[in-house]
Amino acid sequence: MAMENFKQFLFALSAAVTVGFVSIIFVLRWVFYFKEGLAWDGGLAEFNWHPVLIVTGFIFMQGIVSAIIVYRLPWTWKCSKLMMKFIHAGLNILAFIFAAISLVAVFDFHNSQNIPNMYSLHSWVGLAAVILYSLQLVLGVCIYLVPITPTYLRAAFMPLHIYSGLFIFTSVIATALMGITEKLIFGLKNPSYKDSPPEATFVNVLGVLIVIFGGIILWIATRPSWKRPSEQVLRSPPTNGGGSVGIKVSQQTDPIDPKGNGDTRRRSGKLEDSGQIN
Ligand code: HEM
Ligand code: HEM
Repeated sequence: MAMENFKQFLFALSAAVTVGFVSIIFVLRWVFYFKEGLAWDGGLAEFNWHPVLIVTGFIFMQGIVSAIIVYRLPWTWKCSKLMMKFIHAGLNILAFIFAAISLVAVFDFHNSQNIPNMYSLHSWVGLAAVILYSLQLVLGVCIYLVPITPTYLRAAFMPLHIYSGLFIFTSVIATALMGITEKLIFGLKNPSYKDSPPEATFVNVLGVLIVIFGGIILWIATRPSWKRPSEQVLRSPPTNGGGSVGIKVSQQTDPIDPKGNGDTRRRSGKLEDSGQIN
């Protein structure tokens, strides 16, 4: 299956993977070099699981391997849609587990230090994002994996599923930035944050990397021509003219948006989009 602008896709994907990996190295260096390391002892080293698990699990895993990108990797287009759904759902569940453990770490740390819970904007938006994420998971499984869900429901729900997936991902990035800022303000004393000690500059860069990572993932996820083609296109036999099955995805006509100038995720209403084929 040909993909339009394949080189650009590969470039964006490698950029996202690279920035994501560098972010993980940054958060580990922050925790091990500047902070107290990792432990489960009710102290600061337990808190440190919070940013580590969030950056590796909730940001990197959610962005790259699972939700947002996995359907778009052209080398997976030969796999069945059902198999891709299992991978998409499974990796999302894994990302959720990382996020849940990271919350247990921070709540446990607060309780053992007698620090109040849920007082900050960071914690409000963060907890809301995790709750919405779990809702997205449950609804995703019920609607797209349980075979009895009617097709019209699958199709009707897809635009909302995609929108809320991207919305939650963006909220997680915003939450991480607030958390990083809070932690720097709380943790840096003599010299304080405003005096720009090396830790402050280093962790500010981590924040910038997370923003860039989010930006690239959202770019990849919103390119209509990089979307997984419909099952009909993927499974149909080669036609004469083109010689291969490689119909450009963007050339598919949108029954809802035939001119292609609106929401080009035009699949709602089509059977294959709603997971009906599998
Ligand atoms: C606390 C969620 C990322 C730093 C909290 C709390 C929640 C939460 C719910 C409240 C815990 C309590 O009240 O006992 C999240 C979510 C994140 C995230 C969903 C996903 C992006 C981060 C990151 C950092 C961070 C990357 C960077 C160090 C903090 C700090 C606290 C905290 C310093 C304690 C102060 C407070 O309650 O606001 N987080 N967090 N968070 N988080 Fe995060
Ligand atoms: C597509 C997010 C859980 C089924 C998508 C897309 C996003 C997303 C952003 C758009 C991908 C693209 O356009 O290439 C999420 C998030 C989840 C989640 C954040 C968990 C919190 C699930 C679950 C299922 C599911 C559990 C059940 C199988 C699907 C399907 C598509 C999709 C069938 C359409 C893929 C396509 O035809 O290109 N999801 N999702 N999702 N998701 Fe999820």
